Amino acid sequence: MDTKDARVLVVGASGALGGELARRLHEGGARVVAAGRDPERTRAVAEDVGTDPLTLDVVGVEACATTVAAAVEQLGGLDLLLVTVGVAAFGKAAELDEAVAEELYAVDVLGPVALVRAAVPHLRESSGTVAVISAVLADLPTSGMADYSAAKAALATWLQVLRREERRSLRVLDVRPPHLDTGLETRALAGEPPRLPAGRPAGEVVDLVLQAIREDKTELVVDGKEMVLR
Ligand SMILES: NC(=O)c1ccc[n+]([C@@H]2O[C@H](COP(=O)([O-])OP(=O)(O)OC[C@H]3O[C@@H](n4cnc5c(N)ncnc54)[C@H](OP(=O)(O)O)[C@@H]3O)[C@@H](O)[C@H]2O)c1
Repeated sequence: MDTKDARVLVVGASGALGGELARRLHEGGARVVAAGRDPERTRAVAEDVGTDPLTLDVVGVEACATTVAAAVEQLGGLDLLLVTVGVAAFGKAAELDEAVAEELYAVDVLGPVALVRAAVPHLRESSGTVAVISAVLADLPTSGMADYSAAKAALATWLQVLRREERRSLRVLDVRPPHLDTGLETRALAGEPPRLPAGRPAGEVVDLVLQAIREDKTELVVDGKEMVLR
């Protein structure tokens, strides 16, 4: 898709990847609405992109539909929904606290899915694109991250089916990056991360996501040591 003049909603704009993607899309001529949980960080991004900020907690799916509706109202439609919301939790599969697991699946699966569902009617109208960040863990489930891996796998599977069902009406991009240098692991709901390799620069993923959106790709995946689009 051509992102110049595109009407874009970024949910997770208060975060590292979401904020950078929102700003870069704005610099490229898109009209971007920034939605996030933290009011101050969301407002800072919204000021940079010149629109009214939207705040939401994706736990509680009504907020997802309300946010999409408010963005559509501001933009007069929607060409691209970008979901960069996510949180990690660490601990052995048999030992993760149930309340933590519930919040993890709410943020990493039910929230993103609710956002996409609310946006689909608008994206059908514009033959638009939905881009969601899952993670390499969907392909490579990892010890100490059973629920985080399973949540990302559930999200990736759901997106795969959506792509098949909506192939004539919209495009679906699933971004499954490796560990990055955004500090996500320091904001986990619970537990200590296992020993991780040095995070790859977030800027690499931002560049590739923008390229993938413009070239109508369907996935960003890890192939050996490389991130590739296909
Ligand atoms: N960093 C990595 O190593 C890595 C690797 C693979 C995939 N990913 C995925 O990439 C995405 C972006 O991560 P990031 O690295 O940019 O980390 P980040 O800076 O921590 O961003 C996470 C975003 O999720 C939002 N969020 C968390 N819980 C929420 C809730 N209940 N309601 C609404 N928003 C909520 C945060 O909002 P607030 O900040 O406002 O609370 C923030 O905007 C996530 O889906 C993550 O799983 C990251």
